[in-house]
Amino acid sequence: MSKSILIKTDLPGPKSKEIQQKRGEYIARPMGSSLSPCYIASGEGALVNDVDGNRFIDLTGGWGCLVVGHSHPRVVKAIQRQVEDYLHTDFTAVPYQPLIDLAEKLVELAPGKEPKTAAFFNSGAEAVENAVKIARAYTKRPAIVVFENAFHGRTLLAMTMTHKAMPYKYHFGPFAPEIYRLPFPTPSHPLEYTIWEKKLLQIVIPESVAAIVIEPIQGEGGFNVPQEGFLKFLRELTKKYGILMVLDEVQSGVGRTGKFYAIENWNVEPDIICLGKSLASGLPLSAVIAKKIITDSLPEGCIGGTYVGNPVACRVALEVLAIIREENLLERAIHIGEILKERFLQMKDKYSIVGDVRGIGAMMAIELVKDRKTKEPATEETARIIQECVQQGVFIPSAGLNKNVLRILVSLSITDEQLNEALDVLEGAMSRI
Ligand SMILES: Cc1ncc(COP(=O)(O)O)c(C=O)c1O
Repeated sequence: MSKSILIKTDLPGPKSKEIQQKRGEYIARPMGSSLSPCYIASGEGALVNDVDGNRFIDLTGGWGCLVVGHSHPRVVKAIQRQVEDYLHTDFTAVPYQPLIDLAEKLVELAPGKEPKTAAFFNSGAEAVENAVKIARAYTKRPAIVVFENAFHGRTLLAMTMTHKAMPYKYHFGPFAPEIYRLPFPTPSHPLEYTIWEKKLLQIVIPESVAAIVIEPIQGEGGFNVPQEGFLKFLRELTKKYGILMVLDEVQSGVGRTGKFYAIENWNVEPDIICLGKSLASGLPLSAVIAKKIITDSLPEGCIGGTYVGNPVACRVALEVLAIIREENLLERAIHIGEILKERFLQMKDKYSIVGDVRGIGAMMAIELVKDRKTKEPATEETARIIQECVQQGVFIPSAGLNKNVLRILVSLSITDEQLNEALDVLEGAMSRI
């Protein structure tokens, strides 16, 4: 079997080095460094070619935006066709059908029987902000409950809802008011639900809470899967106090877990769901799917934005949904998840640094620890493994408050051979560390 990875130069190669030098001069430092020191020339599926002719397997998928892969030919065609027809009008000036067709499809796919509507935005943070605005306006309540380890974006409200201080909240306060944070119970950090409710009642009057916003599987926080029954418990609890249940599926949605909406893995009907990232395969598009009774209660024109739901991104999203269906990507997600779990569990048997293997479908991760009993995070070792993988031709992202989780955000179009090749590289790096 021929290998996908091809490393021809020292990394970074000479052309990447030249671009990197220019970056140092002109790009604002807070934009940060990149996982890869090599600059992309082209991408295809799960593969990235750099400007020096090296080829990598990309497990970052553009931080989870590329469920259908880099530059899927149908996505490229959809962009070309739409750009030739018209590029922008603003839906509130001259409306267009692709936005309505996309809303219909997302609503049809949404779990539960209650009628729903869709609204569109540009980024995940914007979707979360608007879900909160809608929840506050509908309930006429101010407070929002979020979770430890949560990530909801970087705008003022979303940044406040995000847990991790560095780098996301660096001297960026004052933060938004009325945000309350509670534990996210998981199998390895369990919590009795009666205690969780008590904690809620200790920090906020439940009758003042508009919404509990939760990632059904936490993304940046380390691919944390909630403790058995927690989401059902939350659904009952929110109903009891008249609170809305809002799911942030910006990272976990659009098929990654083997279901289109991650919440379909549990039998729960939320009030509002936020989608983003892979929805338009890397073009800026996010969505808020909400019960119609909620959105009908708000006046016309109170949410929006110049570029929200732009026609190119909507046409691409329609194509993404068709590709997921026709290329059986939900089944692929399950299959990829099985390969990942088996290989990760084998690594756990061999290497004591692997403390935990967790996830659902292709949203799978391993947590690296210095000591399995104390669970002390192996942060430096994780960074070294990532760098070693880059040198061997694999981009793999980290996650978690302590950056000691390796998570897989790969395109679901990756072949078994490519996936195993990437995992061989990861295992090699792990064995050396
Ligand atoms: C769960 C979740 N919500 C919100 C966001 C923010 O999305 P964006 O970066 O598009 O604003 C992210 C981004 O990683 C995310 O993972």
